[in-house]
Amino acid sequence: MCGIVGYIGSKRAYDILIQGLHRLEYRGYDSSGVAMISESGELNIYKSKGKVEALEHFAQNKDLSGAIGIAHTRWATHGEPNDINAHPHYSQSGRIALVHNGTIENYTVLKEALTQHGYSFVSQTDTEVAVQLIEYIMLTNNCSLFDAVAEATKRIVGAYAIAVVDRQNPNQIIAARQSSPLVIGVGEGEYFLASDATPIIEYTNKVVYLNDGEIAVINRGEELKVYDAKSAECSKIEITELQMSIEQLEKGGYPHFMLKEIFEQPRTLADCISGRISADGKSVVLSGVIEHKERFLNAGRIIIVACGTSWHAALIGKHLFEDYCRIPVVVEYASEFRYSNPVVGKNDILIALSQSGETADTLAALELAKAKGAFVFGICNVIGSSIPRATDSGCYIHVGPEIGVASTKAFTGQVTVLAMMSLLIGQMKGTVDQQTLATVASDIRRVPALIDDILGMHEQIEDLAKIFTYAHNFLYLGRGYNYPSALEGALKLKEISYIHAEGYPAAEMKHGTIALIDNDMPSVVIAIKDNVYDKTVNNIQQVKARGGKVVAIVTEGDTIVRDMADYVIEVPEISECLTPLLTAIPLQLLAYYIAVNKGRNVDQPRNLAKSVTVE
Ligand code: F6R
Repeated sequence: MCGIVGYIGSKRAYDILIQGLHRLEYRGYDSSGVAMISESGELNIYKSKGKVEALEHFAQNKDLSGAIGIAHTRWATHGEPNDINAHPHYSQSGRIALVHNGTIENYTVLKEALTQHGYSFVSQTDTEVAVQLIEYIMLTNNCSLFDAVAEATKRIVGAYAIAVVDRQNPNQIIAARQSSPLVIGVGEGEYFLASDATPIIEYTNKVVYLNDGEIAVINRGEELKVYDAKSAECSKIEITELQMSIEQLEKGGYPHFMLKEIFEQPRTLADCISGRISADGKSVVLSGVIEHKERFLNAGRIIIVACGTSWHAALIGKHLFEDYCRIPVVVEYASEFRYSNPVVGKNDILIALSQSGETADTLAALELAKAKGAFVFGICNVIGSSIPRATDSGCYIHVGPEIGVASTKAFTGQVTVLAMMSLLIGQMKGTVDQQTLATVASDIRRVPALIDDILGMHEQIEDLAKIFTYAHNFLYLGRGYNYPSALEGALKLKEISYIHAEGYPAAEMKHGTIALIDNDMPSVVIAIKDNVYDKTVNNIQQVKARGGKVVAIVTEGDTIVRDMADYVIEVPEISECLTPLLTAIPLQLLAYYIAVNKGRNVDQPRNLAKSVTVE
């Protein structure tokens, strides 16, 4: 949540900062702001409630000069979204400006102490405390900005990525990180700073990922310096080359990123699978697993921690690992796990599943398991993000940047990786026979083409969406591998259309939820030909008997459900464990078209942000 950008070089900083904010808007869009040291030496801050567009409008006709600046797009945590609480924040004297992503837990204590020293605060944010603290340390110790930031980081408890500028030194940005991401782009005589690499890629593909507890000193025209905040020792700088293209960050002719990302899935899954299933379909290669073969062979239990959509993918992972590896699996909400007192043993493997690789709860859950001696494995999308850097090993899903706030291609990428992992571990353990492995592996290779076929039915789903746009409640039902699909379908609808929807195991419905069913409450039922198909058919009958409308997702050629349901969407036949990859597509499209019909902001739904780096 929240995105920060910085620039120092010879170009006009404003243009780079604004473009960067647009790229990071998916991380929060409650307000945005920029701070630049102008050509005449002023520290100008312009900020505005709402999206970056509002800021651009506000900044028109202002002094936008200066080749150094920092910027921020906010997802509000402390204080309502308004102009005053927007970042950057000034220090009391107006000399220093700061942007922050994260939360400062001890801000009330710090605020009280600063108030006693004569500081007053204009905003309700925790961030303003940081900038005042830095100025206070600088003035009382008569020290450099770097020393003040280093000292402040020792007093601040919480998560932060900060960037700070001092009007009296227009040639320097100081940045620091603890638990919130920060990437520095290294250009020709210029540096870029951002919460992720997307604002940087159009200028340079050379980046340095700042580690927790590090402070960067970014001086114009000088070599980048990174220090350990506690010891003040110089850290070794590792330059990483980004493998990302600008095209991946654009809408490419689609009206929304979400639609683009839904339609990208045949290609993203082909990329995800590429090089990982042998040409003869007889083996799976995932080096992060193979290099730790013994760990997986001796695993007593797998614990998967995740949030939101990733948690739904994790539930599918449980079926996969239990079916093919015969390893007991528990799936935990990361936010619950991290504050529980879990029994974690040395033979346990904890899998942290996260698109962004930055979700605060997932990161904390993995740290907890690590401290208890578990082997921690990450399945993430964003390369170089915090989770892959904190794990013992892992596997990227390689689906490219996901910008729409509602997760789509990451979900199918996660399920695909979990499927490949379960086959590989099953093969290593001897719990999956060669025939099953070959069938499922070759089915995984068919998935991109099958998804392409389903996407070809988008007009049918668009028409269906028109019928249900004005429903106030929805029920999503599924069983087995497709119970998590029902949860995911409901979440997609809720988050982008703001229609209430509940995902439910189809058979559980009769223990209470069935009371809700009437003519106004449509049920989306995933009724593909699996081992509980007949039971699901019964569940559909139960809904129909109460006057409920049924949209059924069925296996191609199904006639039984077709006769029963009000509307039917067919998906091709495939190994049961892979059906969630196919059923996800109509569910994503249905949610998308309903949200568009309702005029919702599909890519940036209210109250949400893509990367949840706060608790
Ligand atoms: C829903 C959605 C969220 C994320 C959740 C976890 O569409 O995107 O529910 O799945 O915030 O995020 P990651 O996977 O980045 O840890």
